[in-house]
Amino acid sequence: MDKQKIRAFTDRLFADMAGAMTAGMAYVGVRTGLFRAMAGKGPMRLDDVVRESKLKPRYVEEWLRGMTSAGYLAYDPARETYALPDEHAYLLASDGTDHFVGGLFAVAPVMLRAAPEVAAAFEKGGGVRFEDIGADGVHGLDLINRGNYEHRLASYWLQAMPNVVRALEAGGRVLDVGCGAGRVCIAVARAFPKAEVSGIDPDAESIRQAKEAAAAEGLGDRIRFLAQTTTDTKADGGFDLVTLCDALHDLAAPQETLAEIRALLKPEGTLFIIEPKAADQLKDNVNPVATMFYGFSLFHCMTQSLARGGPGLGTCLGPARTEELVRAAGFRQFDLLGIKSQVNLFYAARP
Ligand SMILES: C[S@@+](CC[C@H](N)C(=O)[O-])C[C@H]1O[C@@H](n2cnc3c(N)ncnc32)[C@H](O)[C@@H]1O
Repeated sequence: MDKQKIRAFTDRLFADMAGAMTAGMAYVGVRTGLFRAMAGKGPMRLDDVVRESKLKPRYVEEWLRGMTSAGYLAYDPARETYALPDEHAYLLASDGTDHFVGGLFAVAPVMLRAAPEVAAAFEKGGGVRFEDIGADGVHGLDLINRGNYEHRLASYWLQAMPNVVRALEAGGRVLDVGCGAGRVCIAVARAFPKAEVSGIDPDAESIRQAKEAAAAEGLGDRIRFLAQTTTDTKADGGFDLVTLCDALHDLAAPQETLAEIRALLKPEGTLFIIEPKAADQLKDNVNPVATMFYGFSLFHCMTQSLARGGPGLGTCLGPARTEELVRAAGFRQFDLLGIKSQVNLFYAARP
């Protein structure tokens, strides 16, 4: 055995466990508002952070030390001050923007608390049901994508499909399948005042949060949210646009659902798919983003599909398998759209 390799891998193991703990501490920073309390304030003493955050001093102190150790905060030992660099605040204390990455940490405890049940499923089969993700899980999933949906979906992503934009401007019909907490519907309803917008999701908690979000945005009357699947959805003349955002790989019956979506579309309608960015080959998925997605897959996406007797497609579905599924459902046109993103791939399919 190569002792050098053992030493290097030991370092790696500590780094990984440190990463897991950092994710937990960052979750606390987002959840308690500590990052926001420090954003733009420059160097702060413990008392300053306690005063700004209104949190318990000893907890704040240990968090400041941990986040300093992790490299999230800059510490000045002479002055005993901690600072959140502007570049870090840009990603961590920017809730509601398209550059907020702090939402990822909201799902860290959600994913890891499923680990014991997932480990048991390795032996007994089945999986962990979507409903078990809880209200904070639905909220966490919402936080990951929300900023992008609010700031990029209508103004950038949908613009890649001029025919769709034209139809929606004229008052087209849109259905978001797997709408979760409703942000896609909200963004579309706001950008296209004449469009008729509906969202469906079999998860009752997601629909509850979606209705609440739409009401809070003053769009409660514009959007219909229903706790159902495409099986129970009527075409009523057909949809100009069906969106399937971060949901295809979660489906328990992907082939059937895609075929039902095809039947719900108008002949000239479009299915817009957003999926996590992953390559077709495992050898090309050896990077931090894909590692994160494989974790999401094991602890949530794959297991909740398997729990419903589904195929457990997994988060790293990749373009080739996506195209195969979509074409097998009868879609004649399938395009990978040239939209730039570090974490997503975008597709348009036509019946
Ligand atoms: C990862 S979440 C994405 C939610 C939302 N689209 C977003 O991007 O934030 C996947 C969603 O797909 C929903 N889902 C699972 N199976 C479904 C089905 N057969 N029909 C519609 N939605 C489904 C889940 O309930 C969940 O809300």
